Amino acid sequence: MRLQRTVFTRRRPPALTAKLDAAETFIRQFASEDPESGDPERRLREVRAAVEAHGTYEHTPEELAFGARVAWRNAARCIGRLYWRSLVVRDLRHLRHPDDIAEQCFEHLRVAGNGGRLRPVVSVFAPDRPGRPAARLLGEQLVRYADDPRSEKRLALARELGWKGGKEDFDVLPLLVQAAPDRSPEFYELPDDAVLEVPLRHPHHSGFAGLGLRWYAVPAVSDMTLEIGGVSYPAAPFNGWYMGTEIGSRNLGDADRYDLLPAVAALFDLDTASDRNLWRDRALVELNLAVLHSFQEAGVTIADHHTESSRFISHIERERRHGRSVPADWSWIVPPLSGSATAVFHRSYDPPDAELRPAFLRRGADPWAPAS
Ligand code: ARG
Repeated sequence: MRLQRTVFTRRRPPALTAKLDAAETFIRQFASEDPESGDPERRLREVRAAVEAHGTYEHTPEELAFGARVAWRNAARCIGRLYWRSLVVRDLRHLRHPDDIAEQCFEHLRVAGNGGRLRPVVSVFAPDRPGRPAARLLGEQLVRYADDPRSEKRLALARELGWKGGKEDFDVLPLLVQAAPDRSPEFYELPDDAVLEVPLRHPHHSGFAGLGLRWYAVPAVSDMTLEIGGVSYPAAPFNGWYMGTEIGSRNLGDADRYDLLPAVAALFDLDTASDRNLWRDRALVELNLAVLHSFQEAGVTIADHHTESSRFISHIERERRHGRSVPADWSWIVPPLSGSATAVFHRSYDPPDAELRPAFLRRGADPWAPAS
């Protein structure tokens, strides 16, 4: 009797091909930018074998650090990219339990806050694996206030889960961590020593402090997915330091945020009878001045928009010397105060490239949907 052998030609599923391509591009980029990284061919064989066997592969700590830094370098909306090389990368890929993630997010805030001398930090938790998504942080930043209209959803969810706080002005929302799409999120109150805050006062108006305003020091974005070489890290909170206008113009000034221009105008006795009196413009300047002054006096790192603008121009020049372009989104780069008084206003940029990787990707309303 003759047995006939059936030969199966195995087709690679497209997702695997995409993963292999992304991995290869990244490993080659790492090798070309980091001469110490060794022979990419050997590493590529290793990576290919892992992807074929498990549908994914593990970055070395060096690849992870490089990937995270380049993701920052590639962030088209960020004016603060000059220091991308100095990003502190915390390798926490072994952590996937919400309790551990929360604890390390608090430690992230302590490391980043550094007593006021802020350090740019990213904490990278477990990546998604095929068929096994990793935990997500719900909420756009590690620190957010309950009375910020922007946090309405997170506040509602925290309350639903049983959080009782949020009754006072500027109450810090609990951290929300969800382990899997079919699991209920857990909430964790932030320890006081993890949240560095600055009460706001004005250099020339003693009544300003009476408004009772404050803001936190560390802007740690927690709702973006870090993608490196085809691997997605959905929990990878990162921070730089604030540029004053983010707080003074947008967070406190926007009509759909704290909407404080009328109160500031009243404090400074501005004539609000007509738009042409430019009372909003003058209030914006006072508010921004108060923010910069207060952080400075408190010894907490912050940048003004003029300085950050010229740093960004230096960044573009430095990148050009390395033969790299700097994709940038004009409407995000130009500061929301005195735009035309900064150099970044008066030029155009290489257009943002949605395909550029490594990258911090935006997620939609559903944290479990793919980021882009
Ligand atoms: N614009 C956001 C805020 O006001 C922070 C975004 C990140 N900003 C930064 N400087 N790294 O809270």
